[in-house]
Amino acid sequence: MLRGGGYVPALLPNLPFADKQFDLVLSGHFLFIYDDRFDYAFHLAAARELARVSAGEVRLFPPAGMNRKPYPQLEQLRRELKQDGIESEVIRSNFEFVQGWNQILVLHSKSR
Ligand SMILES: C[S@@+](CC[C@H](N)C(=O)[O-])C[C@H]1O[C@@H](n2cnc3c(N)ncnc32)[C@H](O)[C@@H]1O
Repeated sequence: MLRGGGYVPALLPNLPFADKQFDLVLSGHFLFIYDDRFDYAFHLAAARELARVSAGEVRLFPPAGMNRKPYPQLEQLRRELKQDGIESEVIRSNFEFVQGWNQILVLHSKSR
């Protein structure tokens, strides 16, 4: 986690930051690609935590695995986030570090 020009050591799914502390939260090449090591519950808790510290958007790249296929429980994750008031969308990315990793999961943090 980068804050104010320096790094703050932290581990998902628990971040040492206040609610809505950041305007924009980015997470790249961590969530979803290691789904052989981190289970669905971890992914849901991590997404909730990233949304908690965001006052605006959270962008998660890529919502796909090492096999280049979409995260199998992506729709379930989005449904559960929606139940918490966190809307989401999947948008196209121009950046394709690995073939097939061409989408971004965007979470829109709760307004209140
Ligand atoms: C493939 S690297 C991606 C690094 C960087 N985000 C990028 O895109 O170049 C995966 C990163 O996830 C970090 N990581 C591992 N477990 C984590 C956790 N529980 N919470 C947050 N980051 C974690 C690792 O330290 C590593 O830096």
